[in-house]
Amino acid sequence: MKLSIRGVTKSYAGRRGETSALSAIDLDASEGEFVSLVGPSGCGKSTLLHIAAGLEPATTGGVALDGEPVLGPGAELGLVFQQQTLFPWLSVRENVRFPLTLARSRARGLAAAPDRQAARVEGLLRLVGLWDFRDSYPGELSGGMQQRAALARALVAQPEVLLMDEPFGALDAQTREQMQELLLHLIRRHRITTLFVTHDVDEALLLSDRVVVFSGRPGRVLASVHVPFPREARAPELKLDDAFLRLKRELLALLFGSARSEAQRDRWLSGLTSTQPEGGS
Ligand SMILES: Nc1ncnc2c1ncn2[C@@H]1O[C@H](COP(=O)(O)OP(=O)(O)OP(=O)(O)O)[C@@H](O)[C@H]1O
Ligand SMILES: [Mg+2]
Repeated sequence: MKLSIRGVTKSYAGRRGETSALSAIDLDASEGEFVSLVGPSGCGKSTLLHIAAGLEPATTGGVALDGEPVLGPGAELGLVFQQQTLFPWLSVRENVRFPLTLARSRARGLAAAPDRQAARVEGLLRLVGLWDFRDSYPGELSGGMQQRAALARALVAQPEVLLMDEPFGALDAQTREQMQELLLHLIRRHRITTLFVTHDVDEALLLSDRVVVFSGRPGRVLASVHVPFPREARAPELKLDDAFLRLKRELLALLFGSARSEAQRDRWLSGLTSTQPEGGS
């Protein structure tokens, strides 16, 4: 499914007047494409994800999936947010099964027979390594385990689009790397269109087909950087590769505005945006 964000602006009315969070965002993720969003804190990344999920209205502009406007959250979308969003009163297995019990999933024929539901939930729990903890409650799990459960829940209704807001932000480095490998494994197997917010440039480069850099608030798209590494090459060792490090330096320069002059920045931008996949083989 293709995700199209067109002319999206967002302003919040507050006691101290209006806050402009997003300014004229145009952004596409084509079918199966993994796009990361990076940008300074407060530039509107979470706001954009909420708008894309249909959880929040845009002030102007809109979001479409395969040309159909997104008017509210639907079963074609899987969502993972940074804060804990598991239901504390449901077991791990009940949390993961939950989306299948919603009317919208039933309308798409996903709720199917109870035994097929159970098999799907079991498959995902095994995949994320939580089968042994299926009857535990979220409060009995570590942060990383809770995020794995949240990922399983986001995937259970077989979404065509995945929206993830710093899903691994609160995890220690080792758990984070395991989650990245799990996500890579999933996106190699399924063609899920993904919009992924992160503060971590390594993570963005490791996972994405494209990294979109936002300016400070109000967020606008500064650059869209193609990441040329084939999916088979996406592994932690890639972070030591020269081409990887070069792209990382360029992204960091964009992010922290460390370019000394506009001309230098423009040169970087034109070099970055014209980066093409490696040909041959
Ligand atoms: N519900 C709201 N009411 C008023 N202002 C809001 C609301 N949500 C977000 N904002 C404002 O919109 C701007 C963008 O916020 P948002 O959470 O989207 O940023 P972000 O890029 O996700 O930041 P971070 O990287 O820190 O998560 C901020 O100035 C924030 O104060
Ligand atoms: Mg945010």
